Amino acid sequence: MGEVVKAKELWKVYPDGTRALRGVSLSVERGEFVGIMGPSGSGKSTLLHLIGGLDRPSGGEVFLFGKDISLMDEDGLAEFRKRRVAYIFQFYYLLEDFSVLENLLLVAELLGVERAEEKAVEILDFLRLSHRLKHKPSQLSGGEQQRVAIGRALISEPALILADEPTGNIDWEEGRRIFELFRKLNEEKGITFVVATHNPDLREFFNRIVRLRDGEVVSD
Ligand SMILES: Nc1ncnc2c1ncn2[C@@H]1O[C@H](COP(=O)(O)OP(=O)(O)OP(=O)(O)O)[C@@H](O)[C@H]1O
Ligand SMILES: [Mg+2]
Repeated sequence: MGEVVKAKELWKVYPDGTRALRGVSLSVERGEFVGIMGPSGSGKSTLLHLIGGLDRPSGGEVFLFGKDISLMDEDGLAEFRKRRVAYIFQFYYLLEDFSVLENLLLVAELLGVERAEEKAVEILDFLRLSHRLKHKPSQLSGGEQQRVAIGRALISEPALILADEPTGNIDWEEGRRIFELFRKLNEEKGITFVVATHNPDLREFFNRIVRLRDGEVVSD
């Protein structure tokens, strides 16, 4: 069962009639590091939302770890997803009233992660945030906040990480470091990555690139 994601002929038509995806098929094997690239508005975020089960397609099918997610209700899907798939958003969505460490621990508690504190400290050390455990998100740089968001994704010990423009708000050097970290997690922990970005300079990091234009996959 090597297939982590299989999307068949996905369509997404938003209520206002925008056809954001027009028959996109995509398959991702375990251990891949796939880039979803394409200009602004080409459907990258929409595709990530659908394959992560955060939104439902207007047509087509999504299989996650071999299971047809259209057959699951919201609770069933949330349960199925919670220890398998983590999402890293462009705008972090950290809890501002809680410290860096607490941001990880709250997720861990929600998901029932064992030895959470020990793991959170280890992850934050790996992310070079040991000196920031008690800081609030507002006291951190953009790159540091992004690393907290990554830590929050890692604490659930996911098999699949979906990242939407994860370095969109940080400088090039820090962005590169974050991509190097993703690659390390991919290689050392076997986490499968699907990363949406419109930054062509990040091409070199991916094993494979899926290009979108106007809601369709285009070949090179
Ligand atoms: N909730 C929505 N309602 C209506 N149209 C939407 C909605 N969300 C996205 N769209 C439209 O769907 C298309 C694809 O949007 P999407 O956000 O998937 O693109 P993207 O490739 O992620 O772009 P960006 O690089 O700017 O993040 C765009 O035309 C966008 O305006
Ligand atoms: Mg987007």
